[in-house]
Amino acid sequence: MDFQRQTSKRLYEEHAATLQLLARVERVFTGRGGAYPPTADDADWAAFARAMVSAIEVEVARHFEFEERELFPRLEEAGDGDLAALLDEEHVTIRAVAQPLAELLRQALAGGLQPQQWQTLKTLGLEFSERLGSHAQKEDGALLPVLDNLLDEDTDRELFSAYAAA
Ligand SMILES: [Fe+2]
Ligand SMILES: [Fe+2]
Repeated sequence: MDFQRQTSKRLYEEHAATLQLLARVERVFTGRGGAYPPTADDADWAAFARAMVSAIEVEVARHFEFEERELFPRLEEAGDGDLAALLDEEHVTIRAVAQPLAELLRQALAGGLQPQQWQTLKTLGLEFSERLGSHAQKEDGALLPVLDNLLDEDTDRELFSAYAAA
């Protein structure tokens, strides 16, 4: 997609990176990326689990907070309050899965899980992927085009440099 503003471009790139990670999530939890549940010495699994915890607690958290703080209020002011409220509500439902998911991943990394917990982890992982994937695609289609029109050059520069520096 061809956006004019740096802020929209950056968010679009982050959504693309997220969608790539989610494709990996689906491979891992459906057993197409190696045995699931993994063996205790599976280094690929451990790398994946650490990457997921960091994605949830750092990248996704930072991205969501930026949208909530800087973008949704601007959308509302511009008369798109319904869209802002919908996207904000989706953040809530995504966090509701992301938090227990990160918790179980940490526990898995720290010493393994009981069979039932591996099952719960899989369910949470696939649910997270579904919710976040559809959210990112919705923002690409609905939020970013609006944002691209909404931001003037100066506001875009300010927002982008604040976000990049954070
Ligand atoms: Fe979002
Ligand atoms: Fe987003």
